[in-house]
Amino acid sequence: MLKSQKHLFHLDPDVHYLNNAYRGPQLKSSEEAGIASIIQQRNPFQLKPTDFFDGVDSVRKLFGKLVNCESSDVAIIPSTSYGFSSVLKNIKPKIGGKAIVVQDEFPSGYFSIARWAKENQTYVETISPDPASISKGESWNSALLEAIDAKTSVVLISSIHWMSGLKFDLEAIGAKCRQMGAVFIVDGTQSVGAMPIDVKACQIDALICATYKWLLGPYSLSIAFIGEKFHQGIPLEESWMNRVNARDFGRLSEYASDYSPGAARYNVGEAANFVLMPMLQASLKQILDWTPTAIQEYASSLNRPFLDFISHIGGKTEPAPFLAQHLFAPLLPKSINSADLKKELEANQIYVSTRGEYLRVSINVFNVAEDVSALMHVIEQQL
Ligand SMILES: Cc1ncc(COP(=O)(O)O)c(C=O)c1O
Repeated sequence: MLKSQKHLFHLDPDVHYLNNAYRGPQLKSSEEAGIASIIQQRNPFQLKPTDFFDGVDSVRKLFGKLVNCESSDVAIIPSTSYGFSSVLKNIKPKIGGKAIVVQDEFPSGYFSIARWAKENQTYVETISPDPASISKGESWNSALLEAIDAKTSVVLISSIHWMSGLKFDLEAIGAKCRQMGAVFIVDGTQSVGAMPIDVKACQIDALICATYKWLLGPYSLSIAFIGEKFHQGIPLEESWMNRVNARDFGRLSEYASDYSPGAARYNVGEAANFVLMPMLQASLKQILDWTPTAIQEYASSLNRPFLDFISHIGGKTEPAPFLAQHLFAPLLPKSINSADLKKELEANQIYVSTRGEYLRVSINVFNVAEDVSALMHVIEQQL
């Protein structure tokens, strides 16, 4: 099993950072790649035409490996909202149809689908779990599957819920979408990198990910798998870099009418992003080396005592099949005052997030058992 990888990060050794779901810390290798690239920019005469494309090509290939798609199906985008708008712009609504989201979907996804629905006279159906059921995951997944019908134009959900880490059954949802002729869009921001995903097995049409969390990338750089359904679509903008003749700098004004093949037409302008791209490249290489499966195993080894502790003190967590190992949100016993707890956690340099009624804990390979025991200790004191 993977051992702690803390030595590969510059994280402050005095803190217990259980908040990768907020922002992943920078890998040393990623930081070095970014600094080297800044220095390289001192001398623009060294910049070759191929440099505008090589970094992007490499990152597309690495991400393709991670999610099981061709590199030509990958697009470089600046944010998830950009990715959602890029694909939604190319979805034709069914007449009298509906779009599906889940309750408390992340706002970038929710607002994107709400706008598309308004512009396309489509109703948005929000699916919630049964509040009375013991396993929210089971009731939420079955409600979702039931809701996807012949009227559904599009389903937009996160791979795991960003507030609680609850897992959605992407394979079953993707199969139902395919059966009903609905487009399946997934926000992978809170799981891709830390949990395995296969866009083919899940029949996902577009997988949109911010990189600054579980992909350990820099802020302002996101990435997407954009499948065949969109390969003839119209992008949000017209960058010279996305045309078939872009690599031939002498012929750029022989305006090529064809876009580069696959998802490349959706690359944001100036996708080369000379400083951020090498940082993401270094992170993706490292994640592929660790593997998402091993990251789940490592997170599981750290969270086990914590989950036992939560049930021992009368708290609740989602049952196993719907529980992500790297991000979860226990419901604490009512006797704990969440404002007091938050204050005490901060005083002890323990970083977690509060999202709605949840205490969101997230674990990655830089965490160690002491981070989790420090958290348990503070919770115990609040009982
Ligand atoms: C599920 C999810 N999607 C997307 C984002 C970031 O969105 P954007 O790239 O639009 O800023 C976050 C950030 O917390 C998130 O949790």
